Parts: sequence; structure tokens; C-alpha cells
Amino acid sequence: MENLYGNPSFSLLLFLSLHLLVVSSLYQRFSPVDNYLINCGSSDEVSVDGNNRKFMGDSVKSDSVLMCGTRTISIRDSNPDLGLSPIYHTARVFTKPSKYEFEIRDKGTHAVRIHFHQLNSAKYDVSDALFHVSVNGFLVLSNFTGYDNENARIKEYLIWVDAEKLVIGFIPSKRSKFAFVNAIEVISAPKDLIADTAQFVNGDSVENFDGLTKQALEVVYRVNVGGPKVTPFNDSLWRTWVPDEEFLKFSEGSSRVYTSGRIRYQMGGASREVCPDNVYNSARVISSSNATVPNHNITWGFDVVEGYKYLVRMHFCDIASIAIGLIYFNVHVDGHLVYKDMDLSYITNEVLSSPFYADFVVDGDSSGVLTVSVGPSSKSFPYAVDGILNGVEIMKLNNSMGSLDGEVSVEQVLKNWPRGNIGVSVALFASVCLLLTASLLMHRRRVGVKDSVAWSPLPMDISKGNLKSNNQFSCGKVECS
Ligand SMILES: *[C@@H]1O[C@H](CO)[C@@H](O)[C@H](O)[C@H]1NC(C)=O
Ligand SMILES: *[C@@H]1O[C@H](CO)[C@@H](O)[C@H](O)[C@H]1NC(C)=O
Ligand SMILES: *[C@@H]1O[C@H](CO)[C@@H](O)[C@H](O)[C@H]1NC(C)=O
Ligand SMILES: *[C@@H]1O[C@H](CO)[C@@H](O)[C@H](O)[C@H]1NC(C)=O
Ligand SMILES: *[C@@H]1O[C@H](CO)[C@@H](O)[C@H](O)[C@H]1NC(C)=O
Repeated sequence: MENLYGNPSFSLLLFLSLHLLVVSSLYQRFSPVDNYLINCGSSDEVSVDGNNRKFMGDSVKSDSVLMCGTRTISIRDSNPDLGLSPIYHTARVFTKPSKYEFEIRDKGTHAVRIHFHQLNSAKYDVSDALFHVSVNGFLVLSNFTGYDNENARIKEYLIWVDAEKLVIGFIPSKRSKFAFVNAIEVISAPKDLIADTAQFVNGDSVENFDGLTKQALEVVYRVNVGGPKVTPFNDSLWRTWVPDEEFLKFSEGSSRVYTSGRIRYQMGGASREVCPDNVYNSARVISSSNATVPNHNITWGFDVVEGYKYLVRMHFCDIASIAIGLIYFNVHVDGHLVYKDMDLSYITNEVLSSPFYADFVVDGDSSGVLTVSVGPSSKSFPYAVDGILNGVEIMKLNNSMGSLDGEVSVEQVLKNWPRGNIGVSVALFASVCLLLTASLLMHRRRVGVKDSVAWSPLPMDISKGNLKSNNQFSCGKVECS
């Protein structure tokens, strides 16, 4: 990225692109090709985030055709909290391995958000929920209860899709347990959201880490440093960013800064979809107000799990300097110097308030805490800003088992799922599937492809010998009840 900035023709490009930016609407919304918002366990469409986003009920249309074979149940909270988003008023319960399939039109990275919230239902006791969740062959949650007191749990994953569909599976841990989900989002991410190469921090050396886009990533922390919580309503990709206070380990001599001025996005730097204005317009800084450069860092710490690699994305935007060329600082990840004498003015082609991010990959170590710090370097000036950070994201990479939650693969989970009495033969199932496909095709031909028929909750189970390595779920049998 740095090479780009040294290139004179880039400056011209930059000049042009900045003008383009000014001309185009400041808050033009990103409009993803694939944008599935599903309100599970309901036939109602509900609006959230100031009516900007509509979650479609999953009991509509094709569901009636697929009811045979599903052992899924819709539940509705008998007494929902009035302040609670309507997507948490209903849930779909799965008593057997089940899946949602989403037709994908735009290959590449997709953001998958899965929402869980405890429901008061007469039919199901949440303490009986215990399940695994898979996304396209990656095990993303195992032995998960979905339970977190009053708060909704939103799990977010960034998954590369190069097939026609994305599959989310829900697998109860045992026959006596069930799985549930309240809402699902599947959104094609902007092409520049995940770059394929990051810097791998290997002790004191930093080397390239390639193939990042093909890893399954779980967003574990997304932090707006020095600023308030940013809600999906105010984010270009409907993300949530939390304030940094709870992660601060050392902040002596630091202060918060805020700008109401414009954030100057440039080509080659971060885009508004990578990180919104509302995150770049606040920061925490170390600054010098007299003739000495301070001698301390700002350090944040994040709980991590040993045995996984983590992507650390640090967001910088110099909203604090009074002029260009005055800001130099060091960046440490896990105590290792990963960026010496960072010169934000140079990186951003001498434009203040211009955002930039840096990606590092580190191993989660036995300490269980991943630290990031910014602080003065030997080039730092007195009477200037000597360290800044605007935002930080920590994402977990899948392990070699293809899992984000334990040393078990999706295949092992499915292989171990207890088989019961097979009610209907595989042949019958196959003919049912054929009929369904035919009627769906005919239906589509008549009405054209609509979102509402492009995905469908389907039964999922395995039968012996049907498990192929690339085929995470094989529909093998059906129980018509
Ligand atoms: C779930 O928990 C059980 C019991 O602790 C354990 O044997 C099993 O391996 C776990 N499954 C997964 C997928 O982590
Ligand atoms: C969106 O951000 C503005 C400030 O930028 C804030 O006043 C407003 O409350 C935010 N809205 C939501 C719904 O978070
Ligand atoms: C500069 O200010 C810091 C605190 O802001 C103080 O600790 C330090 O002693 C000051 N140095 C001088 C030379 O006044
Ligand atoms: C900043 O933090 C790093 C890593 O924790 C440490 O090596 C370095 O000495 C610290 N610098 C200052 C000025 O405290
Ligand atoms: C994540 O899974 C992919 C595909 O299974 C695999 O190629 C990759 O090595 C895994 N990542 C890690 C860090 O083990």
C-alpha cells in the first residue's frame, strides 16, 4: 500500500477521486448484491434500524412446500420486552439437524450475522438448547446455548463463498436438546473489506500472511476508540462498534479527541464501507504539550483463546494534528514492534483526517490476552501528537479443523449425530426432493426469481456412507409427521 502513495500518478488519481467523492453523495448507502435479512420463526416482515432494513419472515411461501421433512417449530415470545427489536420476538427451533440455504449471486466475502435471544415460550425451555452451528463447512459454534441473560447475542462471521449457495446448519448436540435462531443476515461484503494479505507477527519479525480471504473469520471485537457506541443505523455495513473503555489496560497521559469535520476517504486507504466516519471521527491520543515527548503507551487488551490465530485490524486517521508532518509513533501488537515510526502524513499523501488501516495476524498465546499499543517513537515531536488510534477490530481465524469453536470438525459432528428410526425411505425422500425442485422451478419461471424463494429452510440429516468431504450435509431421510 505504501508504494502506491509514492507514485506521482497516484496523486493525480487521488485528486480526481477526492473530487468524485465530493460530488457523490456523502452518505450514499452501500447496496449489496446479496442481502438476505431473515426473521426466523415468523411469517411477518419486520423493520429495524429506523425502518431502513426489513427482515423477512422465514415461514413464507416455499416453507409450506418444504414442511414435510422439517421438524422445525416456530415460537413466539408470549410477553416480549417492549424495547426489544421485533426480530427477537420469534425464533425457529430445530430438534434435528437442519439448514438454511441462501442463493449467492455475488461470489466473494459475505458477512453472516446470526442473532440469538432468549424467548419465553411455553413449548420450549431455553435451558434445553444446546447446539452446533456451521457455515459453509466451517464449524462456527459448538455446544452453544444461545443464552446470555437479557442481551441478544449477535455472532458475526466473514465467509468466502465461491459456490452458488451459502449454507447455515443448526445441529442439536443430542436428541434431547434443540437448536434455535432468531434472525439471520447474509450480506455480500464490499470487495475491499478483506484484503488477502496481512502482516504476520512472528516474534519480533513481521512477514506476509497470504490467503486471508479464504479463512473463516469471526468478528470478536469491534471497537470505536475514544468515541461512543456506533449502531448499525450509523454504519455503512450495519455493524456495531463498542466504546474502548473496557479494553483499556494503560491510558495514563492519553486523551480523547473528536472532530466534526469531514473524514477524507482516499483510494488506496480505507473506504467508508471498511470503516465509517463515525469511527474515524474519534480517537484516543498521546500528545505532548510541552518540550518533552511523553514516555508511555496507550495499551488495550482483548481476551483471546489459545490455539487460534487472530486478525488485528487497526484504524488510524489523523484528526488531532494541527498540521501535516508532525505525527510519528510506534505500533505494538502483543508487545512486538510491528510498525516503527508510523508516519501518517506520508501514508495518507499529506492529507489530514484521511483514514488508513493496517492488518496484522498473531497467534493467540497462553496468556489469553492480546494487546495492542500505540506510543511515541524516537522520531516523535514535542508539542505534537505522539500516538493515535481510532478503531480496532479483532477477528478469529478458523483452526486446522475448519472450526472457530473447538477441535472438532463439522464432519465429526454430523457423523456423531445419533441416528434414530428412519420413517421414510431414502427413495421416497429423493422423489419428494425432485417434486419440490420441479415445483420450485415452475414457480420461479412464473413469478421470476424473488428473494422470498431464493432461500429455504430445509431438513438435513445424514445417512451412512453419504458423507463426502466437501458436502457438509446430505439430505438422506425424511420424517413426515
Ligand atoms: C460438546 O460437549 C461434549 C461434552 O462436553 C463433548 O464431548 C463434545 O466433543 C462437544 N462437541 C463439540 C462439537 O465441541
Ligand atoms: C447516529 O449518529 C449520530 C451522531 O453521528 C447520533 O446523534 C445518533 O444518535 C446516532 N443514531 C443511532 C440510532 O445510533
Ligand atoms: C511536561 O508535561 C508532563 C505532563 O503533561 C509533565 O509530567 C512533565 O514534567 C512536563 N515536562 C516539563 C519539562 O515541564
Ligand atoms: C510501549 O509498549 C511496548 C510493548 O508493550 C514496549 O516494548 C515499549 O517499551 C513501550 N514504550 C513506552 C514508551 O512505554
Ligand atoms: C481454515 O480453514 C481452511 C479451509 O479448511 C484451511 O485451508 C486453513 O488452513 C484454516 N486456517 C488455519 C489458520 O488453520
